[in-house]
Amino acid sequence: MKPITKRSWAEPYKIKMVELLKMTGPAQRKKALKEAGYNTFLLQSEDVYIDLLTDSGTSAMSDRQWAGMMLGDEAYAGSKNFYHLEETIRSVYGYQYIIPTHQGRGAENILSKILIKKGDIIPGNMYFTTTRLHQELAGGKFEDIIIDEAHQPENEFPFKGNVDLSKLDRLVKKYGAKRIPYVSIATSVNMAGGQPISLQNLKELRAYTKKNGIRIIHDMTRVAENAYFIQQREKGQQHKSIKQLVKEICSYTDGATMSAKKDALVNIGGFMAINDWDVFEEARNMVVVYEGLHTYGGLAGRDMEAMAIGIKESVDDNHIQARVGQVIYLGEKMIEYGIPIVKPIGGHGIFVDAKKFLPHIPQNQFTAQALAAEIYLDSGVRTMERGIVSAGRKTNGENYYPKLELVRFTIPRRVYTQAHMDVIAESVARVYDRRQKIKGLKMVYEPKYLRFFQARFEPLK
Ligand code: F0G
Repeated sequence: MKPITKRSWAEPYKIKMVELLKMTGPAQRKKALKEAGYNTFLLQSEDVYIDLLTDSGTSAMSDRQWAGMMLGDEAYAGSKNFYHLEETIRSVYGYQYIIPTHQGRGAENILSKILIKKGDIIPGNMYFTTTRLHQELAGGKFEDIIIDEAHQPENEFPFKGNVDLSKLDRLVKKYGAKRIPYVSIATSVNMAGGQPISLQNLKELRAYTKKNGIRIIHDMTRVAENAYFIQQREKGQQHKSIKQLVKEICSYTDGATMSAKKDALVNIGGFMAINDWDVFEEARNMVVVYEGLHTYGGLAGRDMEAMAIGIKESVDDNHIQARVGQVIYLGEKMIEYGIPIVKPIGGHGIFVDAKKFLPHIPQNQFTAQALAAEIYLDSGVRTMERGIVSAGRKTNGENYYPKLELVRFTIPRRVYTQAHMDVIAESVARVYDRRQKIKGLKMVYEPKYLRFFQARFEPLK
């Protein structure tokens, strides 16, 4: 008998309702992909078998969340669900004042408009598409201050979301602290592959920004996943619960924007949180213009109730272990097949290194976009480009050329099983076997903003 060397985790839930999947065939996929302009964002979900486009708004809600939906108080003003949400955010994250918004970018819009003046500099630990665009639209310029390791897919540094304080210091010396309204800090840095920032780094950043009178604004979209990596990897943090770590992370920052569609296990929703009363006052005025009254911010009462319950579920140790555990399971399978992926494995998905997978396709032929299209053709698994298309253009019209050219396999929370993970890894391995035959793409339509959502492509001959 083989000796037992490990104890596996299992999902801390059982399934009460199922949604049948659409099986797809090769001819159907070929036609659908062509009609979608080789952009997985433009596929109809009816043509998709396993959908790894995003972990945003794709979670399965619990029976408690669904029950909460029935308790929606749809009053225009002062809904009881708003007060439940406010109390939950205060107790779980520790921020004082909150403004609900329809999703994360609604909060980014309001916060950027309040804090950024024309000519300001916003340093951050790698850009995120919507966050940077709102900073630019408000007249600011984003500057990347993440450590160099974050741009190296194979570097196994455990906290690739860390800030390089010397990069920040150079910006402060060059522009002066007055032109830096805040440092933009994401936990579980999405574009780096879901990589965490360490508590130690965050503490040092807090000390530095305090000395220089600069705020830290926290993109807390995936804060619980970041807390899990701190618990697993950071020296001296093993004894703390996810709940404790999440609250501690938030305590080193002055405010936050949240896309609750990720960590917080809801299909729609977000908020802005801030400890400064004056900023809150202004946000409370502005939310009425862009989202809705300050006690609903573009959400139904039932959405706020589901969010409040989801936030509590999201900081449960068993939940987060299984959530990240499933991602790691898929990543390790891909590594076994020899697929080049970003390491260490991140919190919300697997990021395949398209430059290494398809070294014969140059970046200006949209390497990752071509790979995402090919994976869809093989099995109906929908992934997303995170490379030159996502990076877009600078304000002067030039293309950004990001170092990372990745295909993201984002895992929805509590939705798919381990058997789905096996099917996905096998499909990627099959595509890898015939990688030499894959060709690049040319862009035939480019929208002005966030082009990755709607751009269209054609295969090169
Ligand atoms: N910040 C981060 C780190 C995000 O990942 C997202 C969304 C947002 C902000 C914006 O939030 O979508 O609610 O307006 N990311 C999704 C994704 C779209 O697929 O990565 P939103």
